[in-house]
Amino acid sequence: MILLDGKKISAEVKAEIKIEVDQLRASGGKIPHLAAVLVGTDGASETYVGSKVRSCEEVGFRSTLIRMEASTTEDELMQVIEGLNNDIDVDGFIVQLPLPKHINEEKVTQAILPNKDVDGFHPVNVGRMTLGQPSYISATPYGIVQMLEKYNIETAGKHCVVVGRSNIVGRPMSILMSQTTAFSNCTVTLCHSRTKDLASFTRMADILIVALGKAEFVTADMVKDGAVVIDVGITRVADATKKSGYAIKGDVNFEQVAPKCSYITPVPGGVGLMTVASLMKNTLLSAKKVIYK
Ligand code: GUN
Repeated sequence: MILLDGKKISAEVKAEIKIEVDQLRASGGKIPHLAAVLVGTDGASETYVGSKVRSCEEVGFRSTLIRMEASTTEDELMQVIEGLNNDIDVDGFIVQLPLPKHINEEKVTQAILPNKDVDGFHPVNVGRMTLGQPSYISATPYGIVQMLEKYNIETAGKHCVVVGRSNIVGRPMSILMSQTTAFSNCTVTLCHSRTKDLASFTRMADILIVALGKAEFVTADMVKDGAVVIDVGITRVADATKKSGYAIKGDVNFEQVAPKCSYITPVPGGVGLMTVASLMKNTLLSAKKVIYK
């Protein structure tokens, strides 16, 4: 069993980005600038946004964090988005999800200009990604593909089973893995909460990608010997032995499943770190105007 080390690979991706930023700086080019909007004080969102801002510092980007009260109205948030859309110094920005219930996430996502949508959530980017055209690919699926690439994992012709059909992870992941590009070319099955006899599908997977958000849901009997297992879950579970009062658990019961795998991602230290590195990569692509001219 080989551990897919998100810490190591994300550090490599970030080091590659830093080299490019250093070159941009040396040649008098524009330093990439990422902005993040955080509405409210959700603990997990604070952690994610904090990690995004720190990563910007590591790779040499400029970053701006805009904090807004949980009581912010949809109109107020729309005005901030409008400002960021029009700010020529900002190459890309994200609005951290989830948003408070009174704000329509779909409306917010669609208000971000596609060329600044480094999360890859706008329908234009999702559509372009689906058609195999240049686009920002949402950070978690993009991070997973980069991980497969860095470990040179054979994917062509393999059966990839994705569990979870969210707009952020499961659905784009299932589309990417069926593309004709390198580190995809799979036969893909997309399973979800209404799938009957889920284990009969997961047991067929050469590559199993789980993005359900249910701690330790996948057990050893659900996985084929020699499978590649990618665990996207990050759930906080109460744990009195931890200083924070909680432990972070993936969707896969790691202890049970790891011995059966050819490769597996740990949680923490796996996919989560790749997600942030991919956001940095999308921001660099935006600053260099690679996707949209
Ligand atoms: N919430 C959970 N994951 C993400 C992400 O990748 N981007 C944003 N904006 N919000 C999230």
